[in-house]
Amino acid sequence: MKTLNALSAALLLAASMTAQAQPEYDQYARGSYLATLGDCTACHTTDAKQPYAGGVKINTPFGVLAGANITPDRETGIGDWSYDDFRRAMTEGIGHNGKRLYGAMPFTAYTKMSERDLQDLWAWIQTLQPIHHEVETNQLPFPFNIRTSLIAWNWLNFDKGTFTPDPKKSAEWNRGAYLVQGLGHCGTCHTSKNFLGGDEGDRFLSGSEVEGWYAPNLGADNHTGLGKWTQEDIVSYLRTGVNRYAIASGPMADAVRHSTQHWRDEDLRAVATFLKEGKTHDESVPQPLAASDDRMKLGAQIYEAKCSACHSPGGRGEKNIFPQLASNPLINQPNATSLIRVVSAGSRGVDTDARPTAPAMPAFAGVLDDEQIAAVLTYVRNSWGNAAAPVSASDVKDVKEELK
Ligand code: HEC
Ligand code: HEC
Ligand code: HEC
Repeated sequence: MKTLNALSAALLLAASMTAQAQPEYDQYARGSYLATLGDCTACHTTDAKQPYAGGVKINTPFGVLAGANITPDRETGIGDWSYDDFRRAMTEGIGHNGKRLYGAMPFTAYTKMSERDLQDLWAWIQTLQPIHHEVETNQLPFPFNIRTSLIAWNWLNFDKGTFTPDPKKSAEWNRGAYLVQGLGHCGTCHTSKNFLGGDEGDRFLSGSEVEGWYAPNLGADNHTGLGKWTQEDIVSYLRTGVNRYAIASGPMADAVRHSTQHWRDEDLRAVATFLKEGKTHDESVPQPLAASDDRMKLGAQIYEAKCSACHSPGGRGEKNIFPQLASNPLINQPNATSLIRVVSAGSRGVDTDARPTAPAMPAFAGVLDDEQIAAVLTYVRNSWGNAAAPVSASDVKDVKEELK
């Protein structure tokens, strides 16, 4: 009898373990999806064969930082961390041995994560393969390499706190707000920065320069923002990397490739709902330059000779292949960095599962000089419904310098 009892106890125990294994498995699946929403790969995976072992270099205006090893390796990763350590890193920006983390790790956004999401993400991180890989995350020059200065930085630039839903808004809007402000950390690139590199809170998603590109205004403005984009345009851009206005390239191509193309439909729709109800940032729309301006005349000739074969006369583009340049908010941004970069160095849009071969834009740096690139962009920025500050030859020179 005794043995039988022990046996049935063991069976009962086994049964209860299987009963528990189910929710745990779900927790890992949820955690893995949360890592996709947060795009941890972008900064923590250098080599696909060593996922999350760190080392991705991040260029900031202050110098280079590298993503940490966040695998459960005890010596070089976070294998000796508790959930509380992880929670502090994600929501307060405090890492190993109490050291302050740089804002290049978007804890200023992740601080909005819910307790449950943090727990699920942590459960998943613990299942990762531990990888021994030493990373020096702080490669900044003096004096920016001194972490204690981050105490003051945080005090000025960081509002800790979880997301509080707005009861006056729909559940879908609130889900979108949670994703955009929190895990999706869209503001890391799209919010303009103060001289310390902190977010200008009242300019949330108003546009900002990032890694030699310009992440455009995502506000509701018609001229420079997403005012004219429909909810479907936004979902399609984030899912496939392309829509009738734009093709994602540069840092946004990476965000689409690793992250947004894998988001669930209801999450992309929630983001679109939230963005469509965003605020406006630029009240005044500039007057386009007159067609009689010398720069416009030169630009028109170059456009016809070098660009119109693909982008079509009138800048209409070719749906899903060559972006429309007419009435395109991306063309009207106050900062022309991305445009100069794309025309000088060429660019290939993002490949996604939904659209595996992206078209490419040829480089014109060897064909057109700085003056000519400036003229053609000035023309594009002031034709067919567009209006924006002219581009000068010295703007072109500066971007080319940075590209070297
Ligand atoms: C935009 C780049 C970026 C993204 C996205 C990012 N991180 Fe980081 N992360 C960093 C950088 C850079 C550091 C090192 C910061 C430092 O040393 O001050 C870091 C550090 C960390 C640390 C602290 C490690 C330590 O040893 O102290 C943890 C934990 C972490 N990240 C987790 C995550 C998770 C989880 C995600 C996804 C939800 C994520 N990170 C997304 C850039 C990023
Ligand atoms: C790593 C930086 C980065 C992150 C993170 C990022 N973006 Fe972007 N985004 C950019 C850049 C740069 C562009 C311009 C791309 C181009 O010129 O093709 C862009 C373009 C866009 C556009 C097209 C706007 C237009 O007028 O053409 C949309 C929409 C957008 N991003 C939405 C988002 C959303 C939503 C998130 C968060 C889920 C996000 N982005 C996160 C850098 C980023
Ligand atoms: C061979 C076809 C081709 C030619 C010629 C061409 N382009 Fe493009 N262009 C493209 C493609 C494809 C893209 C999208 C690439 C991407 O998103 O990375 C693009 C993107 C752009 C963009 C960014 C627009 C956006 O919404 O992302 C601008 C600006 C641009 N081209 C201007 C020009 C100008 C100015 C010329 C002439 C000097 C020119 N292009 C010639 C194919 C072409």
